[in-house]
Amino acid sequence: MNKKIIYLDYAATTPVDAEVLKAMLPYFSEKFGNASSLHILGREASVAVANARKSVANFFNADENEIIFTSGATESNNLAIKGVLRAYFKNRKNTEKKPHIITTVFEHSCVLKTCQKMEKEGIAEVTYLPVYADGIIKIADLEKALKENTLLISIMYVNNEIGTVQPILQIGKMLAKINSERTEKIIFHTDATQAIAYFDTNVKKSGVDLLSMSAHKIYGPKGVGALYVKKSTKIAQVQDGGEQEFTLRSGTLNSSGIIGLGKAIELLGKNKQKESKKIQNLRDYLIKKVLKEIPKAQLNGSRVKRSPNNANFSFSDVEGESLLLQLDMEGLACSTGSACSSGSLNPSHVLLALGMEPEQAHSSLRITLGKYVTKKDLDVFVAKLKRILIDLRKISGKLLAEYYAKKNKQTNLKNYGK
Ligand SMILES: Cc1ncc(COP(=O)(O)O)c(C=O)c1O
Repeated sequence: MNKKIIYLDYAATTPVDAEVLKAMLPYFSEKFGNASSLHILGREASVAVANARKSVANFFNADENEIIFTSGATESNNLAIKGVLRAYFKNRKNTEKKPHIITTVFEHSCVLKTCQKMEKEGIAEVTYLPVYADGIIKIADLEKALKENTLLISIMYVNNEIGTVQPILQIGKMLAKINSERTEKIIFHTDATQAIAYFDTNVKKSGVDLLSMSAHKIYGPKGVGALYVKKSTKIAQVQDGGEQEFTLRSGTLNSSGIIGLGKAIELLGKNKQKESKKIQNLRDYLIKKVLKEIPKAQLNGSRVKRSPNNANFSFSDVEGESLLLQLDMEGLACSTGSACSSGSLNPSHVLLALGMEPEQAHSSLRITLGKYVTKKDLDVFVAKLKRILIDLRKISGKLLAEYYAKKNKQTNLKNYGK
């Protein structure tokens, strides 16, 4: 990584681990075969893909034929939701009631937009569960939302912006009980993209039917991910073509990417607890320091039920984008919201969902930590942040004073002679 940059945006993406890169490299050059080809080069790639599948399956305590490789979590989430709906309609008449999906208001845009589209096209009805100021849904809301025609529940494990953790294990248990009394089982999907590095993703324990993940959040390459599909889950392909991935996902396998994913998840499995503890200590150090040393700073979302790597703050009287740009000029890379929507000037839908005012949501900063961050990096970050905030607040204070002076003058002029 560029030594001059202090990278604090690990929820957006992570650098590829040197061991991962080493494992991938031969599959770009001398071992370039198509994993579906029958000759030696194809078989070589196919064996390596099978090993990667084994590593991913082991990590989730799943079977190898329950792992579908995709291009990342966006595709996994699309396949999970659209695939379940497609399978449902394959066996039904149009006259039957629309299937019902339950999700939350603060999902990643790839889940939210998929659900909104399904709703708009009249394919499904959708309930969006609220989240509260702590950034966590309530099981009671979920229970209340259940209907006779509920087909799918899709709830993210860890929110990508504020890092809050949803009660996935509890939901799994609750659903197992409910499903034992239903003929049409409710399918449970979780987007675990931001969770797998820190939380329990043993699918046998959580009881999820579908789980999405992405390699580039765990020191693997971009453009590759997986969807865990529990055996017997009714799901159909959404992309027509070859018969790869047990006919669920057509397209030539990204063998080098898949091998990278396999290596990344293997390394994660070995170091998960140790890394997680180390990163959590750094996060706690950062949160304490920011809240102590910076006036008018607020931590967004629950203090405790959050990812070990996430700290999301609001700093009143400043604009998040300006703050971000100033930090960038000082060699500090962080983010205002999710990387996918940070080009947008709309306030974050996640922060608004917590009940924040748009101005407050606009003043937020997401700092996400990873394995290469040090305490010294955080000291440098806080020192620079403090200085930048003083300058920005001076400007915003001046602008506000000018604004009110102008407003008062106009009011005085309007009132003149009355
Ligand atoms: C929670 C969550 N879901 C889905 C995605 C999309 O992942 P990908 O970049 O692999 O498509 C991201 C990426 O930021 C994410 O954080």
